[in-house]
Amino acid sequence: MQISSAVPSPCFVLEEERLNRNLAIFRRVQAEAPVEIMLALKGFALFPAFPYLRSTLAGASASSLWEARLAAEEFGKEVHVYAPAYREADLKEILPLATHVTFNSLSQWSRYQSLLSQSSPEAGLRINPEYSPVETALYNPCVPGSRLGVRASELGETLPAGIRGFLSHNLCESDSFALEKTLSQIETLFGAFLPQLHWLNLGGGHLMTRRDYDVDHAIKTLNQFHRRHPRLRLILEPGSAVAWETGFLVGAVEDLLPQDGFTYAMLDVSFTAHMPDCLEMPYRPEIRGARQPRPGETAYRLGGSSCLAGDFLGDYAFERPLQVGDRLIFEDMMHYTLVKTTMFNGVPHPAIGFLRSDGQFELWRQFDYSDYRNRMG
Ligand SMILES: Cc1ncc(COP(=O)(O)O)c(C=O)c1O
Repeated sequence: MQISSAVPSPCFVLEEERLNRNLAIFRRVQAEAPVEIMLALKGFALFPAFPYLRSTLAGASASSLWEARLAAEEFGKEVHVYAPAYREADLKEILPLATHVTFNSLSQWSRYQSLLSQSSPEAGLRINPEYSPVETALYNPCVPGSRLGVRASELGETLPAGIRGFLSHNLCESDSFALEKTLSQIETLFGAFLPQLHWLNLGGGHLMTRRDYDVDHAIKTLNQFHRRHPRLRLILEPGSAVAWETGFLVGAVEDLLPQDGFTYAMLDVSFTAHMPDCLEMPYRPEIRGARQPRPGETAYRLGGSSCLAGDFLGDYAFERPLQVGDRLIFEDMMHYTLVKTTMFNGVPHPAIGFLRSDGQFELWRQFDYSDYRNRMG
């Protein structure tokens, strides 16, 4: 696909049409199941897009003071905050911003509960449901010895006074059957507490906007659970699912370096700085019009713009030989990628823009030397 010459390189581009498609799924789920959906800012914090999300989603969830501020200032509506360990000074700033504040441990709750008053947000505890389908340990909050959440055995028989809700986050890019299993595990381990709670937040990881997600089954599962616990308010806080396949990163070829058996295409984007999960997870991003090279075909290895030796990805084949100046479109670069970018190596940060449904491109943000410099002093 040709992209408009109005889009600079490099640039992250959010696509309105694709965002709307995702929002329609969330509207349906909220209309047909007793559940409210918050945006998890850790997965997508592009606040100029919040006006498009606000009429569909019930609020935002934050996992730090700065995310809580952004949620309160730019999203409005409900602000759910959870952090693995609050610093007292941060929590004091969070309390006036949040509608719900969740503690990771019984010790944090007992240390800070006196800071909460009648007018404070509703307090919750993160629980560890001791079940997660996530195979990559880096993304599995329920690995043995996990530091995230309170186990049923630690809680004993009594819900700590003042706790109004539980947060369980144990999924990642998961399906509706993992949601079903999570609910049954929560009932098994924490069922005695459910009648005493106001809300149950089932965290993120519900990839409702992926094409193969069984939305009907999720709706049925949530309704069945609600029939068993009619007083409990159900909340989800997906990040990835909101921005799933809603945009791309454009980069350009700056140089071509033939090697033995492949050619380096040197780019104006960096994997380590602009698409870190490609190296961290690692995963191979889709590139529009590119595929796996067949035997005998010119293979391109994509060289990132930093000097990190491992800042490259490959190999890919293209319909026609690459030339200096060609643009590459890295698909699905909105969720997590945008919030995780860095200015490592002083490489220029890609601009950020919005492709409206009518085809018009809006340039939302450009970065310059001062953005890099000001982080350092
Ligand atoms: C507590 C909590 N809520 C929500 C999310 C969002 O998850 P996802 O982006 O996978 O939907 C995360 C992600 O790590 C999380 O830790």
